[in-house]
Amino acid sequence: MEKLNALLKRRGFVYPGSELYGGVANTYDYGPVGTELLRNIKNLWWKVFVQKRDDMVGLDASLISHHKIWEASGHVASFADALIDCKSCKTRIRADHLIEEYLDLNSEELKNKQVITEKITKEELKNAIETKKVEGWTPEKMEEFITVYALPCPTCTKRDWTSVRRFNQLFPVQLGIVEGDQGSAYLRGETAQGMFVDFDNVVSSTRVRLPFGIAQVGKSFRNEITLGNSVFRTIEFEQGEIEYFFDPKKEDWEKLFEQWKNAMWGFVQYSLGVKEDNLRWREHTDEERSFYSKRTEDLEYNFPFGFKELWGLAYRADYDLKQHIAYSGKELFIVDPDTNEKVIPHVIEPAAGINRLFLMVLADSYVEEEERTILKLNPKIAPYKVAVFPLLKNKPELVEKAREVYKMLHERIDGIVVWDDRGNIGKRYLSQDEVGTPWCVTVDFDTLTGNIVTIRDRDSAKQERITIDELAQYFLSKLS
Ligand code: GAP
Repeated sequence: MEKLNALLKRRGFVYPGSELYGGVANTYDYGPVGTELLRNIKNLWWKVFVQKRDDMVGLDASLISHHKIWEASGHVASFADALIDCKSCKTRIRADHLIEEYLDLNSEELKNKQVITEKITKEELKNAIETKKVEGWTPEKMEEFITVYALPCPTCTKRDWTSVRRFNQLFPVQLGIVEGDQGSAYLRGETAQGMFVDFDNVVSSTRVRLPFGIAQVGKSFRNEITLGNSVFRTIEFEQGEIEYFFDPKKEDWEKLFEQWKNAMWGFVQYSLGVKEDNLRWREHTDEERSFYSKRTEDLEYNFPFGFKELWGLAYRADYDLKQHIAYSGKELFIVDPDTNEKVIPHVIEPAAGINRLFLMVLADSYVEEEERTILKLNPKIAPYKVAVFPLLKNKPELVEKAREVYKMLHERIDGIVVWDDRGNIGKRYLSQDEVGTPWCVTVDFDTLTGNIVTIRDRDSAKQERITIDELAQYFLSKLS
């Protein structure tokens, strides 16, 4: 992870947020190359899940939203992290993260050394040791675990902890200057609520019929403490969420659930080009699953810091629409055109973290080969598609011809074609490999006489000669 982090900063993928002023913890800025990669992932997600399906529509809801939305959704009452502070060095950490890290490092030893506890049942303890997860545990259970196993502070190694307390993760927004307005709105904690709140607007302004989905890609905000694994968990992040509405009397939810599992896995493996071995499904235990969900499964990726959630899939039934009906006092339904009956649909919700998809493709494509470091990114999402070089930058005739090739490709290829004339050819290849540019084109003296250029392939480092007339088509067919 250290090497990847260094590359991400050095090459302009990700910078620490507000670095000039000492930084703001758990925030990041995306640099020129990172911005392109992030945008390409979002665009591909949108294309696959919205534009190429006839049962989906898009939405772009406000980030600032009415406090009642979050009361109805349950976030105001229970969207909280359990935190603990080290009394000695003042490190604040999520209690579940502290325990899960400990379980990760000591699981073998713990299998033979289970301490008798009052609040944690034998079964819960066994399950936690096996899965290395304590999601759904109460603060009291976590506190007991930290005490009986004498967990050390990861910063100063002392064992002097405060009690475990809950902190709500929503960010309140102070609107206007009128006293009393404070707390009247929140920055959204998930994009999902927009789809429920605008359900009636979408139904009455479009011709959707069940089953159909509303999708949204956009920022969400959660005031959380993180373990510092780059952009894996941040306080401001992007989600790609879908609420797939259906009539439970007409559709088999288990079948739909399986279809969504296949669509999510397929996107990660085939559209993003991630290795199958690094993916797995994990079903939530009864304890960690929300009370209204009939089934929740996480698609996990094997990050350098272990298998972690990438994309959640939950069957939320009609919980959210019914909550908004109760809190708003308005009817929310869709009319079945066959029976004329009002239907409050159920939903299946695939909820992806776009920044996690970003970190995943970088981790998955990072390769060190002899003297070069390569990001073997799928060309469809690579920040730059082609780099064009003149063999020598001090030969005006080569530079002029290379500029012509660059301009032609720039106009014909959908995606960025980049110009590079720094250093020697070898250094240019190395630097393009590090940002994942799939192909480099060199204009040399043969180009001046025979219209022939050299294409060098990023992954194999093999070179081939091709005429300028064939060049654009060569890349277009590879990128299609
Ligand atoms: N509407 C359901 C929902 O928001 P979630 O599991 O809390 O579910 C969905 O979030 C996805 O959003 C997660 O699978 C994860 O990829 C991403 N995500 C959640 N919190 C995040 C954070 N603090 N930073 C980056 N990504 C996050």
